[in-house]
Amino acid sequence: MNYNMNMPHKKNFNAPTVLTIFGATGDLMKKKLTPALFHLWNRGWLPDKCAIVGFARKDLGDNGFRSMAVNFSGGMAGIVKKDFESFAELWRYQRGNFSDSNSYAALARNLESIDEAWGMCSNKLFYLAVPPQFYEEIFTHLANSGLTKPCSDETGWTRVLVEKPFGSDLKTAERLDAMLGKLFKEEQVFRIDHYLAKESVQNILALRFSNSIFESSWDGRAIEKVEIKMLEEAGVEERGAFYDRVGTLRDVGQNHMLQMLALIAMERPAVFVASEIRKARAAALYALRPVSRDQLKRDTRRAQYIGYRQEGGVSPDSKTETYFRLAAFIDNPRWEGVPFNLESGKRLNRSVVETFVTFKHVDPCLCPPDRHVQNVLYFQLQPNQEVAVSFWTKRPGVAMELEERPLALNYSGIEKNGELVDAYEKILLDCISGDQTLFASTEEVMASWKFIDSVLDGWKNNEVPLLVYEPGSAGPIV
Ligand code: BG6
Repeated sequence: MNYNMNMPHKKNFNAPTVLTIFGATGDLMKKKLTPALFHLWNRGWLPDKCAIVGFARKDLGDNGFRSMAVNFSGGMAGIVKKDFESFAELWRYQRGNFSDSNSYAALARNLESIDEAWGMCSNKLFYLAVPPQFYEEIFTHLANSGLTKPCSDETGWTRVLVEKPFGSDLKTAERLDAMLGKLFKEEQVFRIDHYLAKESVQNILALRFSNSIFESSWDGRAIEKVEIKMLEEAGVEERGAFYDRVGTLRDVGQNHMLQMLALIAMERPAVFVASEIRKARAAALYALRPVSRDQLKRDTRRAQYIGYRQEGGVSPDSKTETYFRLAAFIDNPRWEGVPFNLESGKRLNRSVVETFVTFKHVDPCLCPPDRHVQNVLYFQLQPNQEVAVSFWTKRPGVAMELEERPLALNYSGIEKNGELVDAYEKILLDCISGDQTLFASTEEVMASWKFIDSVLDGWKNNEVPLLVYEPGSAGPIV
């Protein structure tokens, strides 16, 4: 794990590298990958010899692809066009069809020509920025075309980066994994959950395990409940067709939210290395108790915002949830009886990602009998990065009265100082340097699906009604 984000060690990633992006004309490329790659280049954090090859169906040549990149940069703040144009010189284009083996042969020739020009065998990174239904065919063609074979034992590693959702339930995830297992070694596969790479999410781990004051109070004896909220004002925007197949629980519950839960719930790893951290996160996820039929009705809610069915790409009689709430329990001695309440939705009245760890009421205490004083440890992960603890102190004055006061750390300013590294920059950098800490392991993915399936199975049988809510509201009332 890199402990000094401001000075990554270039020797770890300075070998010649070619990044091929499947789906290079899509939304992810525009919104996340183009800015991340530009910022890495601008900071001098890309290998000295680096090429970015876009693979997609559109009829664009290298120049057309570069112009598209320059257009994408129009939406990026503070970009000097000339700088961006120099960066775009790294870009190349390979027109191709995901299902056509000739396209992969053409890609192989394209990559060979780069190696020839450089006079060496480069490292190859393949990024699947495509809807999940294309994963299997791309993996198969990649492997069959020989593209993922390293040049030799010494040089030219190959790695694949896969976006979530990885599968649509446990069964499909297992099938995909078995297939990946035949084609690639685990150390070649980087399963992305961009939440893990967020600065603020990494801070959960740092705060928990570097501050001994939490050590003795981080369990069900001291903690009453944990809440994790990921609320969004935006709707499904242009992703209606994708979203309608997926729904909120699969889109963010199975991955981002359970990863945040894992970071809060995991045991201290024996050592802070990728394999141990991933093992500890996976163990927390495996300990999630599958939701029983009784609990399903009591502790889960699903809802859809009014107007969702009229969104582009969404079925007019869609039953897909755009909001969910559920209580998860972890079956291990540390967390016995502590609910982890998860809530997420689109088109709500605010955009925030936050977690609350509420400590139990101390008894006896100085407070009036009917007043529960509780400490809350609050993390705001978005839009601002903030950590706060609420304390109870004496209100100044003659009477012995208590008032709640926050003690807060806020990180405003890190963005201004250029210290903030975007999650996608971190993902690309870590993949190039071969650090899998912030990527989900196969065990984590399977453990999350096992839990999520227990909810989805009940929802499928209509045991929990699909509620509706007004766009711009706090979600369903019940
Ligand atoms: C994505 C989901 O993984 O995460 C989106 O598919 C969601 O639906 C997004 O909006 C939220 O990510 P961020 O980084 O904008 O908080």
